[in-house]
Amino acid sequence: MTVCKKIKNISKSNRVLFTTPSHDRTSFVIPEISEFIGRKFFFHDLSEINDLDNLAAPDEDILESMKHSAELIGVKDLFYLINGSSSGILAAMLSTLKENDKVLISRNCHKSVLNGLILTGANPIWILPEIDKEWGIFQPVSPQKTEEILDENIDVKAVIITSPTYEGISSDVKAIAEICHKKNVILIVDEAHGALKTFAPEIFGQNAVKSGADIAVQSLHKTCGAPNPCAILQSNGKISSEKIQNALNLINTTSPSYPMIAAIEGTINFLFSKNGQEKIKKLISDITQLKQAFEANLKIYFHNSNDPTKIVVKIKGISGFDLSDILFDEFNIEDELTNSSASILLTGIGTTKHKLKILEKALKTILSADYENKNSHSFVPLEAGKAEMSPRTAYFAEKEQIETDKALGHICGEIIAEYPPGIPLLIPGEKIGQKQIDYLKDKKKSIYVIR
Ligand SMILES: Cc1ncc(COP(=O)(O)O)c(C=O)c1O
Repeated sequence: MTVCKKIKNISKSNRVLFTTPSHDRTSFVIPEISEFIGRKFFFHDLSEINDLDNLAAPDEDILESMKHSAELIGVKDLFYLINGSSSGILAAMLSTLKENDKVLISRNCHKSVLNGLILTGANPIWILPEIDKEWGIFQPVSPQKTEEILDENIDVKAVIITSPTYEGISSDVKAIAEICHKKNVILIVDEAHGALKTFAPEIFGQNAVKSGADIAVQSLHKTCGAPNPCAILQSNGKISSEKIQNALNLINTTSPSYPMIAAIEGTINFLFSKNGQEKIKKLISDITQLKQAFEANLKIYFHNSNDPTKIVVKIKGISGFDLSDILFDEFNIEDELTNSSASILLTGIGTTKHKLKILEKALKTILSADYENKNSHSFVPLEAGKAEMSPRTAYFAEKEQIETDKALGHICGEIIAEYPPGIPLLIPGEKIGQKQIDYLKDKKKSIYVIR
């Protein structure tokens, strides 16, 4: 626990700090905050003072801690991310791509990938994973389709896929990595939702970098119990650590939160400890018991993926949207995401058996009542619009705001993505088609288009 120890030692010393941050290690300016953050947070919130390392150029405790974490995980390089997987995705793209490079991206990507296109100036080509219509969720990215597209586009520099998805669907990263490497293409995997793979591969499957990906990012805050927005970036070293560090320095604050860095270190150590491993197993066993409680009921289905922490549930005769509304309105239970078929409830290392019991009871009550189906939304029409210009050129072009139903044939000037999960419907530079207008007209009154 290098970083934690360093903070504790310095906090205990009598050093008189004429440095940032200006709260001077107390919460007197905003006392209300200390009620819910705790005074200790302020006490330990230090800057890069003597004896503490610098996340932008680590060469002491942070470097030592990151190296130790990389060793525990078994990857060459590891970076602590204090601005979520989003920052790791941007850094991965900024260290791999430059203006006009071609990059193959699975269209069910997170918004940060689109931001990465704007920052790098790279041109996307898309691979659209199939949708499992019964569940309303994306299937894995097909290795065969990836190979076909790479055969047709020999100048692709990198492939970016989301694996697992929000709903726990993992692609065959090993097969896709082999294809990419045969063709000298870098594989970047957005593994934000699959951080537990790193700590329990026997349950969740091998993580992306150990399966052959060159770079992957994982959100420790999503499933591993770390606070928002702690995350990590793992790399096999093919892209040099200097390049990745430089890219991170382009987008990161120069005042990273030391308590957050310590939280990343602590989370990794905990999950590899006996306690942490037991907690992961307990979570899986509690979720299995929840599902078993419904085994005899033919009206309720749980989607089976190799990530049981994502509870994807549907009830016969009720749309996913209605199920989500009922859970919220009548049981005060909030899901993470909904589609026309299913409600998606995320769990993680902090999910207690008690909480799962509350869900079980609510689902049983819903099953015993007679609900009328009210909502049946359509799927997002995900085919990419025709790219008329690069996302970066479109981002910087002059724009005007027009009504959505008048936007047919215009070039989109903004990222339009539904949140969550932030998957793009349209991105800057794409021509707006009738399908997109039909989908958007009741949801969004106007669109920024290129003038
Ligand atoms: C698939 C996917 N990738 C990346 C991210 C970004 O992760 P973070 O919130 O850690 O920045 C998200 C966030 O929801 C996501 O769903």
